[in-house]
Amino acid sequence: MKKKRIKIFDTSLRDGEQIPGCKLKTKEKIKIAKKLEELGVDVIEAGFPISSPGDYNSVQEISKNISNSVVCALSRALEKDINIAWNAIKFAKKPRIHTGIGTSNYHIRYKFNSNKEKIIEIAEKAVKYAKKFTEDVEFYAEDAGRTENIFLAIVCEKVIKSGATVINIPDTTGYCLPKEYGEKINFLKENVKGIHKVILSTHCHNDLGLATANSLYGVINGAEQVECTINGIGERAGNTSLEEIVMIMKQNPSLNFYTSIKTRQLTDVSSLVSKYTGIKIQANKAIVGMNAFSHSSGIHQDGVIKNKVTYESINPRDVGVDRSSIVLTARSGRAALSYRYKKLGIILNKSSLDLVYSIFLEYADKNIEITDKELMIILEKAKLNKKNFLHSDIRINVI
Ligand code: KIV
Ligand code: ZN
Repeated sequence: MKKKRIKIFDTSLRDGEQIPGCKLKTKEKIKIAKKLEELGVDVIEAGFPISSPGDYNSVQEISKNISNSVVCALSRALEKDINIAWNAIKFAKKPRIHTGIGTSNYHIRYKFNSNKEKIIEIAEKAVKYAKKFTEDVEFYAEDAGRTENIFLAIVCEKVIKSGATVINIPDTTGYCLPKEYGEKINFLKENVKGIHKVILSTHCHNDLGLATANSLYGVINGAEQVECTINGIGERAGNTSLEEIVMIMKQNPSLNFYTSIKTRQLTDVSSLVSKYTGIKIQANKAIVGMNAFSHSSGIHQDGVIKNKVTYESINPRDVGVDRSSIVLTARSGRAALSYRYKKLGIILNKSSLDLVYSIFLEYADKNIEITDKELMIILEKAKLNKKNFLHSDIRINVI
């Protein structure tokens, strides 16, 4: 079966930047955008130009500096927003306006004090207006996750007729379960006239930790674009993490999906985004966390030293990490200790390893992690214990 290409829409510079405490300078945004383009993302959502003059300027500069990826600007379903969005992206080789409105009863009633008929009218008008500037118009049905499928289908049909080329189905509050979100996409695929003419896009938030799973169920059910951010940054608990959804597709050939992402650049891009946004990556974050490829418990280390396949399902090189690491903690065993000494060019026989290991455990219980420098101190301490430790017990290899 022919593999299906899934487009990657990165919104680190828009939804990602909405994270509290994050403030990116224009220069930094341009650098990130260029890295995203190099990484191979199909669409870069550069910002929300009406939100501030600074954001407008950044979006404009990004538009001038990017040539392969589509550059997209967000707007509400208002003419003044769309005008400003267009002015900011008009220099882009491939410009896209991303406009939309809330479609759930919560949004219609409490945000807009309106009704379904009026919402449809506003949506149609906004898409038609955006089409005056560019062929590529994406419509978002905000809070689609909590919108009844029948009404959502009507909205989609109307905006397709108005000229939308992409329809975004955001689970804005991270409310859906994967099966439910997948069924929503499937419902739209089966019930919206003209749906085959547009690209359906997922946009999932991570309030229940389900953003990546929901996006996956979205593509399994027919969505062709995933909106996501590097390191999963974004409003509240964040968005679908780009590195996770891309690696899920790469690691599971039976899904029959592929993306244009050059996965070996993932770790670099992740570090750059973390550095500029000031948002640290949690150590156990899938794919790009500091511990994603380190082994610390004795049982796992023993297995990995024998053959990596025992505890590694992802090749670290595929995401730009040279090799996995064996971290020495109080949970580590002799195999890992001997392995780390070997890396330093020191080979210990069984009796010396036993002695070094007992001293190592004393150190490890007091420290989080034992470094190479500490390993040498431990070795010296063991040598002082002349009764049990002969110099002939160790071999120093020149490395
Ligand atoms: O989460 C959301 O609904 C959004 C839209 C504005 C696209 O970010
Ligand atoms: Zn969002």
